[in-house]
Amino acid sequence: MNVDKGYVDVPVESGINLKDEILRLKKEKGAVIMAHYYQKGEIQDIADYIGDSLALAQIASTIDAPVIVLCGVHFMGETTKILCPDKKVLVPDLNAGCSLADSCPADEFGKYIKEHPGHTVISYVNTTAQVKALTDVVVTSGNAKEIVDSFPKDEKIIFGPDRNLGNYINSVTGRNMLLWDGACHVHEQFSLEKILQLKAEHPQAKLLVHPECKKPLQLIADKIGSTAVLLKYACESPYSEFIVATESGILHEMRKKCPEKTFIAAPPADSTCACNDCSYMKLNTMEKLYNCLKYELPEVEVSEELIAKARRPIERMLELSAGLKK
Ligand code: 13P
Ligand code: SF4
Repeated sequence: MNVDKGYVDVPVESGINLKDEILRLKKEKGAVIMAHYYQKGEIQDIADYIGDSLALAQIASTIDAPVIVLCGVHFMGETTKILCPDKKVLVPDLNAGCSLADSCPADEFGKYIKEHPGHTVISYVNTTAQVKALTDVVVTSGNAKEIVDSFPKDEKIIFGPDRNLGNYINSVTGRNMLLWDGACHVHEQFSLEKILQLKAEHPQAKLLVHPECKKPLQLIADKIGSTAVLLKYACESPYSEFIVATESGILHEMRKKCPEKTFIAAPPADSTCACNDCSYMKLNTMEKLYNCLKYELPEVEVSEELIAKARRPIERMLELSAGLKK
């Protein structure tokens, strides 16, 4: 089977019920489907597990299934493969990249590390396996503050690749970490002006902001956190209306979990869209997921050598996260 396009390019049989067929194939192959909160709602609904990057890595470290389909972007598939090297790890469309991971090429990051000797290297999970291999400990937006806090106050740290998350962690931990100058095009695109207008129209609404957003947005946020943190806050806080400044896929689970509350997607600056989609995340479709399970392709490939180097910083994150919870 040819997967040159990055996905199985075979027309789906007409008249089939995709949801039923995906569930049938999943059962037949003993496969597990994991999905990030930014996936299309229908994919989230069919998944065995949904979560933020941290939850998906934690789940991957415990999964016992011969086939894992990671519905998310490529670096998430790599993280899963690194944690489950003996399993077949599939991503419905391997073209699902990440502008943030792309903003940190491993050769340039390696050079930067060499130019700043004596620094501990902390990398956000939104990085390639090659960058993780250069890293001492990986973090996600869900545990970055606590993991940075676990190092001595005078530890010299390089933090990459997201400058907005890095600035945020510097401000809440009182550190002065060296920051790689990378960013996510989706989270940098929100319009402060349009959000201020929305806030004026909905004075009761609380503003939820992902730390990959720019500082001016963070400064007016009522809650800053990973997708899972924002979801928890929306459901558990007494407030009933929220403006959500992160990729719009999370609104699906917010509305499902708290149907009585109102969620408004924060708009990007340079378009007439009412919400902000990550085009990479949305490359995965039900058709591609069906073909992916049927043909067990395309598979995420990470060399044994790279797995050996990139695994330790991810495991260290999982150990630190588990320890911090106690
Ligand atoms: P989370 O860590 O909140 O899952 O975010 C992942 C991501 O890609 C943000 O853009
Ligand atoms: Fe990457 Fe941004 Fe898409 Fe998240 S939203 S996967 S950081 S491009």
